[in-house]
Amino acid sequence: MAERRSGTGAARPATSGTAELATAQDTIALGAQLGKHLRAGDVVVLSGPLGAGKTVLAKGIAQAMDVEGPVISPTFVLARIHRPRHAGAPAMIHVDMYRLLDHASVDLLAELDSLDLDTDLDDAVVVVEWGEGLAERLSDSHLDIRLERGPNTEVRTAIWQWSRR
Ligand SMILES: Nc1ncnc2c1ncn2[C@@H]1O[C@H](COP(=O)(O)OP(=O)(O)OP(=O)(O)O)[C@@H](O)[C@H]1O
Ligand SMILES: [Mg+2]
Repeated sequence: MAERRSGTGAARPATSGTAELATAQDTIALGAQLGKHLRAGDVVVLSGPLGAGKTVLAKGIAQAMDVEGPVISPTFVLARIHRPRHAGAPAMIHVDMYRLLDHASVDLLAELDSLDLDTDLDDAVVVVEWGEGLAERLSDSHLDIRLERGPNTEVRTAIWQWSRR
C-alpha cells in the first residue's frame, strides 16, 4: 500500500494513498483502516463501476466505526442508518445514489431530509455510493475512495484522498 502524508502527528491519517486489493477481505480491511479516522460530520464518497466493491468497503468502515449491521446494498432504498453500538459515537448513514444518477440536479440534502432519518447529518458519518460530484457538497470534510477493477480478475485497486477543513 502506498501512502502520502502531510503534517507529522502520528494519529493523523495519510492524506492520500493507493492499495491493491486481492480479495474482498482485503477491501474490508482497507475500509476498516480508513474508517478508524472518520469523525461525526465526515462524508465518504465511494466511486467505481458496478460490482467494484463499494458496499464491501462500506462493511469495513462499519466494522471500524462499530455500528450495527448488517451493511447491505441500499439499492432499493436511498439510505440505511447504522446506529452506533456505543453511546456518543457517530452513526453511519449508508446512501446509494445509483437510482438518482439520471436526475441531473438532485438535492441530496433535501432527499436525506425527506427520509426523516432521525439523526442529524452532523452527528453521523455519511457513506455515499455513486455520489461523486454531489455528496461532496454535504461536508467540507470528506474522504474520496475510488475502486477500479480490471477484466478477468478479482483484484481491485483503490485510490483514496482525504479533504479536511
Ligand atoms: N478484491 C475484491 N474487493 C471487493 N470485492 C470483491 C473483491 N473480489 C471479489 N469481490 C466481490 O465483488 C463483489 C463486489 O460487490 P459490491 O456490492 O461491494 O460492489 P459495489 O461496488 O457496491 O456495486 P454496486 O455499484 O452494484 O453497488 C462482491 O460480491 C465481492 O465478494
Ligand atoms: Mg453497492
